[in-house]
Formats: sequence, C-alpha cells, structure tokens
Amino acid sequence: MNSVPPGQADLLKKAEDSIHLVEMTMETVKRIYMALRPGMLDHLGLAVAIDWLAKDFQKRTGIKCTVSIEPEELRLDADMSFSIYRIVQETFTNISRHAEAGRVTVSLKQSPDRVELVVRDNGKGITQEQLAKPNSYGLLGIRERAYHWGGEAVISGKKGQGTTVKVSIPLVEKGKGHEKDSNPDRR
Ligand SMILES: Nc1ncnc2c1ncn2[C@@H]1O[C@H](COP(=O)(O)OP(=O)(O)O)[C@@H](O)[C@H]1O
Ligand SMILES: [Mg+2]
Repeated sequence: MNSVPPGQADLLKKAEDSIHLVEMTMETVKRIYMALRPGMLDHLGLAVAIDWLAKDFQKRTGIKCTVSIEPEELRLDADMSFSIYRIVQETFTNISRHAEAGRVTVSLKQSPDRVELVVRDNGKGITQEQLAKPNSYGLLGIRERAYHWGGEAVISGKKGQGTTVKVSIPLVEKGKGHEKDSNPDRR
C-alpha cells in the first residue's frame, strides 16, 4: 500500500471509493432485509439480528449500546425469536424517543426452562402515569407478545435512573421435547 507507483494514486482512491460504496450498499441491503424480516431471523439467528439492531441503534442515535447473549447459539422457536426481536426493536424506539439515555444494555439469556430478556437504559426513567397510559400501544405490544408465549413483561423506571424492560418466557414444553427425536416410541 505504501508503494503506489506515481500516477496510480487516483486508481487507489477509486478502489477505496468502490469499497466504501459496496460497504454502504451492503448496509442498506441489510437494513431493508432486517426491516422486512421474512427469513432473516431464520437465516442469521436471533443473536446476530439483535447484535445488528444494537449496532444500528448506536450508530443512529449515539447512545452506547452493549449486548450480552447467552448462549450464543440460542435454540428458540422461529416465531418466538421474531417476538423477541420485535420487543427489542420497540424498546430501542422508545429509548431513542423518550429516554434521554446515554447508555443501554441488552441481555438475553436462555436456560433450559426459560428465556429472559432485559433491556436497561440510564435515561430519565418511565413514570407510573406513563406506564398506565391507555394509549401506550408500544408497551402494550411488548406485554402482549410476552403474554402470547405464556410469559410476562415487567416494565419499571426510577426518576433519573432509567427504565428497565424485563421479559420472561417459560420454555417448559420445549425442554421436555429434547428426547423426542431419539425416542420414537414416545411420539
Ligand atoms: N425507555 C423509556 N424511558 C422513558 N420513558 C419511556 C421509555 N419508554 C417508554 N416511555 C414512556 O412511556 C410512554 C408509552 O410508551 P409506548 O407505549 O411505547 O408509546 P409511545 O412510544 O408511542 O409514546 C411513552 O410515551 C413515554 O412517555
Ligand atoms: Mg413506543
């Protein structure tokens, strides 16, 4: 790279521009792909999708966002993955719109019997009144998605100390089903 023959600097610049363009195009394609979803989660998996969402969120808002997912290879139903993805999306939208936060942490943990999502921001904190607002469709959607899977969403805030959205979904049936394939008699 440091021995570009004279007259070829232009070429190098062009090559760099092209790479930049390809990168931007790939980002755009990915963004559209993520927005439309179909098949995206199935192909990339929830962990990659949430990671991407967080990076995109950080880039757009300047709010520092860290993600912790355990285990990296989640084993979740595709539709449940989509619900969790949507919940994360809504929390991000809310944080960018309402929280005035500087930092966000996302934690997603799957154990044999449940999956738990916690999104925490360090913003101004949601109030009881806001939690109870009848037209809080975003929060309602989060609760409904959790409820749909037999789980629950707990949203809490403390003035000046941020807001936490905790979603917990039981996986009992799935856990029991582990041996299904290796034991045809039980089908
Ligand atoms: N992370 C947050 N920090 C502070 N306030 C929040 C946060 N998330 C939601 N809120 C408050 O709760 C209200 C309800 O949220 P939501 O149901 O998503 O409705 P919307 O985002 O359309 O206003 C918001 O209007 C806002 O006042
Ligand atoms: Mg909202």
